[in-house]
Amino acid sequence: MQLRPFGASGVAVTPLGLGLAALGRPGYINLNHSRDLGRDYAIAAMEAHAHRVLDAAWDAGIRYFDAARSYGRAEDFLGSWLTARAIDPAAVFIASKWGYTYTAGWHVEAEEHEVKEHTLPVLRRQWDETQARLGGSLRLYQIHSATFSSGVLANVAVLTELARRKEGGTLIGLSLSGPEQGATLLRALEVKIDGVALFDAVQATWNLLEPSVGPALADASRSGLGVVVKEALANGRLTSRNDKAEFSPRLGLLHREAERLNTTVDALALAAALAQPWADVVLSGAAQADHVTSNAAALEVAWDAAAAASLADLAEPPARYWQTRSNLAWN
Ligand SMILES: NC(=O)c1ccc[n+]([C@@H]2O[C@H](COP(=O)([O-])OP(=O)(O)OC[C@H]3O[C@@H](n4cnc5c(N)ncnc54)[C@H](OP(=O)(O)O)[C@@H]3O)[C@@H](O)[C@H]2O)c1
Repeated sequence: MQLRPFGASGVAVTPLGLGLAALGRPGYINLNHSRDLGRDYAIAAMEAHAHRVLDAAWDAGIRYFDAARSYGRAEDFLGSWLTARAIDPAAVFIASKWGYTYTAGWHVEAEEHEVKEHTLPVLRRQWDETQARLGGSLRLYQIHSATFSSGVLANVAVLTELARRKEGGTLIGLSLSGPEQGATLLRALEVKIDGVALFDAVQATWNLLEPSVGPALADASRSGLGVVVKEALANGRLTSRNDKAEFSPRLGLLHREAERLNTTVDALALAAALAQPWADVVLSGAAQADHVTSNAAALEVAWDAAAAASLADLAEPPARYWQTRSNLAWN
């Protein structure tokens, strides 16, 4: 896989990455998550399943992996896979996040799946937890879903602690969510500690249904940040598994474009993200080995101006997109 520079970090990355949000815990919001896991939630079975998906990603040439403290045992499974396959830390790019604590207790349904707290004690505790699992392999540590309301971008104690980690050689990033992704990112670009810009990378939701953060991501890229796209398939809504009647005309459009370009709907939607000039890495959120392989075909899609023009019609008003996402059921 042809590498891309990761912003101005001096590191090169594979343009496709694998996110582990759906691989480390029994419950998630992706469409048909329960079917992906075959409803076998024994820890050993889920670990073996995660390893199979990671193997498929490795075989497809993917070397970028994204976890978080709140993805259940995702960091543990990633760490045990790196050890089991004797993977040289220099051969992979491992990113994780802090700021949410996993609270679902290994259940599919829970009153609270994760609790958000962007404070110094949580940062210090989760940093130690991540180090215990991923240690020397960790390259990028991200604030998980930074927002104005969490106050994290104005929390000098947290930002100073992150700057210390950056001095220690770990890249520092933030992930974004919600209709204010762009405004939050523009604020983050101004954060400096001792005159040095803090953030090396941003991870944001950009897809054919919700492309509104694009201009802010272009700014971030010009400022030297590595740009990572998440939810490029809109949690499965941009795949043929989306059988909602109201989506059927848009799925029809996707199918016609995919057929014209001799590819699948999922590869086409990922290719749309890969084609953005500011995108360094696009995450696949697949929880099935064959879906990783299907997603990786995005790299072969001959994306063109006609596809960009016809698929621009898929975009929704951001408020509607985020409302639909927050209504997705944990399964
Ligand atoms: N706030 C944050 O920081 C944040 C939030 C969300 C996500 N993320 C990161 O971004 C990553 C990706 O996000 P996401 O999980 O929402 O991913 P996504 O790529 O938008 O959606 C993944 C869904 O698409 C389905 N899919 C993929 N290929 C398919 C195919 N060929 N046919 C049918 N269905 C297919 C997957 O099913 P299968 O599982 O069966 O493949 C899965 O249910 C996460 O893993 C995580 O690392 C970060």
